Amino acid sequence: MNKRTAYIRSIGRFLPEKKLTNNDLEMMVDTTDEWILTRTGVRERRILEPGLGCSHMAVRAATECLERAGTAPEELDVIIVGTVTPDMAFPATACLVQNMIGAKKAWGFDLSAGCSGFLFSLSTAAQLIEAGRVGKVLVIGADVISRVIDYTDRSTCVIFGDGAAAVLLEPCPEPGFGLLDFILHIDGAGGEHLFMKGGGSLRPATHETVDNKEHFVSQDGPQVFKASVNGMSQVSAGIVEKNGLTGKDIAFFIPHQANMRIIEAAARRMDIEDEKVIVNIDKYGNTVCASIPLVLYEALVERENGPGKGDYLVMAAFGAGFTWGSALLRWWEK
Ligand SMILES: CC(C)(COP(=O)(O)OP(=O)(O)OC[C@H]1O[C@@H](n2cnc3c(N)ncnc32)[C@H](O)[C@@H]1OP(=O)(O)O)[C@@H](O)C(=O)NCCC(=O)NCCS
Repeated sequence: MNKRTAYIRSIGRFLPEKKLTNNDLEMMVDTTDEWILTRTGVRERRILEPGLGCSHMAVRAATECLERAGTAPEELDVIIVGTVTPDMAFPATACLVQNMIGAKKAWGFDLSAGCSGFLFSLSTAAQLIEAGRVGKVLVIGADVISRVIDYTDRSTCVIFGDGAAAVLLEPCPEPGFGLLDFILHIDGAGGEHLFMKGGGSLRPATHETVDNKEHFVSQDGPQVFKASVNGMSQVSAGIVEKNGLTGKDIAFFIPHQANMRIIEAAARRMDIEDEKVIVNIDKYGNTVCASIPLVLYEALVERENGPGKGDYLVMAAFGAGFTWGSALLRWWEK
């Protein structure tokens, strides 16, 4: 019996207009365009204007995604938002989005898994569809990470940017296509290398937590870099081998955009040609949960020669937690 799978029916994105370039950062911290470009691959990133939150971007990405599919919000069964920067601790951003777009019958929730939030959300959504319980699931990756970045800390402020993207999952009309496999991991021992200490139940906001800058991202860059290279390389190559494929069989690699050197290491381990590796880190930096769907958008909408029916795509992520994983997708279209 052929297993029911989910496929990606549509995609949408939102990017704030305001750009923060490496030259802008040169005037804010002790850094250079050359250092940022060679050590990370980032040229510029987007910053959401003050007064707007995660839901603002999520709704715009969702709206483009649904319009492309010709699907009404009322048809949605579930909304999952992968994010580490929700508008507020509660209600969930999924509830805010549901209300703003008028997805009257949908239920949903936010999913927190660092930069792997979109991939973990995608896997959850795919399994809801595989179980046969739901038909249309909107998966959004959205982060206003600039709100929790210390723009006097040169080791973190050069990497990150804001953005959102959404995909619509539906049951795949043909067996053997769609989201075929996932490999997902967490390792809480890595939590000490990348975290935001303040603002939760353990260290709620006080004058002290603000003075100590506990409401900002704190990162041991080299430790995260090492774990990320290992983790992303293992799951990228791992999912290809697990499914009896090689790098030559993969049409597109859609990696989380944390650092160009991490992407290159994972691509090398998969033995995949450079032109199959989709990259937009130069334009947007690390957009956390929006990163993978923004790269997917690049492949599906921005490129002239995007995936065709039957093409294999591999997605891979690594993030705070540590969390990491990969997905194997066989492209389906009519
Ligand atoms: C953060 C990161 C770019 C730093 O690059 P790195 O090559 O590891 O650099 P290091 O942290 O070892 O620092 C090397 C030197 O550059 C300096 N440096 C750090 N940031 C700098 C900047 N923006 N501009 C100039 N110099 C900088 C350091 O102070 C250090 O100087 P020192 O040798 O005098 O002490 C890199 O570690 C990284 O990408 N880590 C993973 C981050 C990540 O993926 N996070 C999200 C996970 S999803």
